Amino acid sequence: MSRFKAVIFDLDGVITDTAHYHYLAWKQLAESQGVHFDHAFNENLKGIDRMGSLDLILASSSRTYTPEEKLALADAKNLHYQELIATMSSKDLLPGAVEALDTVRRAGLRIGLASVSKNAFTVLERLGITDKFDYVVDAAIIARGKPDPEIFLKAARELGVAPADCLGVEDAVAGVASIKSAGMFALGIGHPFVLTEADVVITSLKEFNLAAY
Ligand code: BG6
Ligand code: MG
Repeated sequence: MSRFKAVIFDLDGVITDTAHYHYLAWKQLAESQGVHFDHAFNENLKGIDRMGSLDLILASSSRTYTPEEKLALADAKNLHYQELIATMSSKDLLPGAVEALDTVRRAGLRIGLASVSKNAFTVLERLGITDKFDYVVDAAIIARGKPDPEIFLKAARELGVAPADCLGVEDAVAGVASIKSAGMFALGIGHPFVLTEADVVITSLKEFNLAAY
């Protein structure tokens, strides 16, 4: 049914729409520092880890920040984000997500999660889908965020599958680049004009068709 042996999913924007919560938390933080923040800017942060996102925001600030100040700002944003995701539940699963995971499981492939979010375990618990994954990468042990291939390679290694036998699923430009540099097939979720490096792009997991890739 499939030429792949594993499917490795991103979380935010693929399985659940946490982008809005990240947006609200970053906007409050940016504005507290006098930095204008809107949806267009938020797009640049998709798939980028917490400190990387903060650096992109503070690049527009008129002042410089010590490493300690940056850590405090990142912690404040994260506390706000954690308040926002506290009420998440299975109702926050994106359409087609559970069906896609179940299709992969029925086809006998391994299933991994490669999210740079340090809140990924919490979000999976809230969504009630933790047990659907054979391996979830702990973002805390990843040295280089997307677009570096490290996180997808780590998932493949732990699943015991060669990168060439993996299908990666991503909604962010940086994430698709990470999959491609890992030597995997990239399924993009979004728009082909944006995810130009992806091998195939679909609008949402509602269109997921494992046999077609
Ligand atoms: C990614 C999101 O999945 O995780 C980014 O696309 C986010 O927007 C990043 O900044 C890090 O998340 P967290 O939960 O570790 O701050
Ligand atoms: Mg994403």
